Amino acid sequence: MTEKKILPTVWHPYSQMKTAGQPDLVVSGENVFINFADGKRLIDGISSWWCMIHGYCHPELNDAIRKQLDKMSHVMLAGLTHKPVLDLAAKLVNITPAGLNHVFFGDSGSVGVEIALKMALQFWRNRGKPEKNRFVALKSAYHGDTTGCMAVCDPDEGMHYLFNDSVTKQYFIENPPDGFDRPASDIDAYISRVKAFFEKHQNELAALIVEPVLQAAGGFKIYSPIVLNKLRDICDNYGALFVFDEIATGFGRTGELFAANHAGVCPDIMVLGKGMTAGYMGHSATLTTSKVFEAFYDEDPEKAFMHGPTFMGNPLACAVALKSIEIFERDNYLEKIKAIEKRLKERLLRIESPKIKDIRVIGAVGIIEVNDAGDLTGFQDFAKGNGVWLRPFSRYLYTMPPYIIGDKELNRVLDVMEKWFC
Ligand SMILES: Cc1ncc(COP(=O)(O)O)c(C=O)c1O
Repeated sequence: MTEKKILPTVWHPYSQMKTAGQPDLVVSGENVFINFADGKRLIDGISSWWCMIHGYCHPELNDAIRKQLDKMSHVMLAGLTHKPVLDLAAKLVNITPAGLNHVFFGDSGSVGVEIALKMALQFWRNRGKPEKNRFVALKSAYHGDTTGCMAVCDPDEGMHYLFNDSVTKQYFIENPPDGFDRPASDIDAYISRVKAFFEKHQNELAALIVEPVLQAAGGFKIYSPIVLNKLRDICDNYGALFVFDEIATGFGRTGELFAANHAGVCPDIMVLGKGMTAGYMGHSATLTTSKVFEAFYDEDPEKAFMHGPTFMGNPLACAVALKSIEIFERDNYLEKIKAIEKRLKERLLRIESPKIKDIRVIGAVGIIEVNDAGDLTGFQDFAKGNGVWLRPFSRYLYTMPPYIIGDKELNRVLDVMEKWFC
């Protein structure tokens, strides 16, 4: 008799289900801690994929959701509106770079990027230039997992390379030279090459999309904000929209409220997600300038933006996002992030090992890049054994802690990262 295979019901992300092993059962979270059914308690060193910026079960955030829940959990946004969505849109316009005046909500980061791409396509169509329908992205880019997003992720080293033949072919330009403080001379040479690309392709380019200053999931590459100023000029000169994907970098992660602020640049379209709702609800916001909005603002129904995720502007998501931003501003989180950055620099930059290729820090992000991905095999269990939840991938061991992390817990995370090499 053949034995009946028992296959798992829940299909986990980015996992070979046959070899991934049984995931640990989480029962609750509080502050920076994740509590497990077996009594284990781990410090979350990566804010549950970078979104739990206030940690778990924050009393004020819980309360904001509960209060909204008693009024209504959801209502559609087509033909209707409500106070939380009006307030959140106004707040986002107020805190993002001046010039971003309109907000289209979505229910996840990837959807927010899809909205940005579709808007850019229709922007040119509405302006009578439908031939401007290609995107250019940076090598090492990661912009999400849906098919439009997959097409603007690094096609060679990105996680979606298997689908290169199935997604729409887009253009890629080399990623900017590494380093926040990279000298202008290196940047100038890079920019000349980018200009040459735009010169050639200007008639077909709808937009350039970038993760400003920090390319996150594509390899944690940090580059100079000066690059953004120069790319802004190129987009203006050659008639392409400039899209910032701030899903990972937004809400303080790189040390400024938005990475755009390092450069003082306003993109045409900017996408927010993850930390916007403090990890409580999946949601995104795609903000645009009035130049973009006005290309759709017309008597002609064909020029309307035909898009509408069911849960866009969900009142619970808006309520928790508003409270999260209020706490961020009230409790001066940018100072907290500065202190985290200082500690990350003190503790990580001193680590030495032949296995390490590079160590870099920006804001509340600390990265150790190793020479060989095999050098991180077993790290996750090692970290768990030492009370810390970290999840390295490829050649990158990194921490992106919740901003409320205390000194003791941050040091514990950094102890674990250091001990692995020493
Ligand atoms: C820069 C960037 N864009 C898009 C996404 C996709 O967001 P989501 O996972 O919410 O769809 C991510 C997620 O890690 C991201 O880091």
